[in-house]
Amino acid sequence: SAVELGPYQHYMQKEIFEQPRAIADTLEGVVRIMPELFGDKAYKVFKDVDSILILACGTSYYAGLTAKYWLESIARIPVNVEIASEYRYRDSVPNPKSLVVTISQSGETADTLAALKHARSLGMPHTLTICNVATSAMVRECELAYITRAGVEVGVASTKAFTTQLAALFLLTLALAQTRGLLTDEEEEAHLKAMRHLPAALQSVLALEPSIVAWSEAFARRENALFLGRGLHYPIALEGALKLKEITYIHAEAYAAGELKHGPLALVTDQMPVVTIAPNDALVEKLKSNMQEVRARGGQLYVFADGDSRITSAEGVHVIRMPEHYGVLSPILHVVPLQLLSYHTALARGTDVDKPRNLAKSVTVE
Ligand code: G6P
Repeated sequence: SAVELGPYQHYMQKEIFEQPRAIADTLEGVVRIMPELFGDKAYKVFKDVDSILILACGTSYYAGLTAKYWLESIARIPVNVEIASEYRYRDSVPNPKSLVVTISQSGETADTLAALKHARSLGMPHTLTICNVATSAMVRECELAYITRAGVEVGVASTKAFTTQLAALFLLTLALAQTRGLLTDEEEEAHLKAMRHLPAALQSVLALEPSIVAWSEAFARRENALFLGRGLHYPIALEGALKLKEITYIHAEAYAAGELKHGPLALVTDQMPVVTIAPNDALVEKLKSNMQEVRARGGQLYVFADGDSRITSAEGVHVIRMPEHYGVLSPILHVVPLQLLSYHTALARGTDVDKPRNLAKSVTVE
């Protein structure tokens, strides 16, 4: 095939390990934050809009959910994130001053293209896409665009496309914050510095692989798994559960950890692995009490913490520590061990990693 596997066994594995390069390429040439990164007309559009409507499917939808947290807290702009196949048929209330943002690896997903056209037909002229294929229908259809440079993604389960989408969405957040007078030069410099550090940070996360391989043995013998996160890492929990479903066929669900007692706790027994995304952020103490609720029912906790989370291994509590605490960019790093966990669990179960049953890389028909 045109894309060589090199030393890797599967495209998914290759694409997971390409993420430091994919992020570096996606951010290449970004010297300063400015609206023009998204197109010549971006400044005028960014000045004109008062809210954002994100439309996407699958993994790209979870990138949109993550971006909502960034956009509202850093750029102070209200955001709605909608599943494209719902939005296109829903009787919604259009806001002509909304910026419609589509997110798509392929730029050819039928529902996302139809949702975009639907939004425009309702009188929303301002459109922007975050897309990995410069020649795609999505890029042609949108007024503004940021092209991610993940390179060709072959594995059906999206990995490097997702992390590069997040990088582009963070740039969008900063550009909108700047246009709205909410980004000082010092903040801009600090964010750019953190973004330039991402490839090295990703490299050290990839080095956690051996510990994740050890966990995958336990997961391979299970038919159910629960993923918990809060705040910025709730969408990452959703993406982690999707990855596991897609390639291992283990039934996985993700919940915002605060919702645990409103249903999923009833499922927790000693047969239930509970993956918890637990960086040391403002919500870590709340998350720890959610973890105790799981342990009290015998649930097995698999925790992705970081150096500062102060969570230690114990009976039924397995901990992998991320090398650094990454602040607001943490979702880009925390999704990587979840990709590796799914990949190695699939290997242990012997499923077809790159071509999971019933799924397609790009869904170009409804
Ligand atoms: C399919 C793929 C997913 C992808 C989704 C949206 O379901 O298997 O990996 O996230 O389509 O695709 P898009 O190209 O629009 O991002």
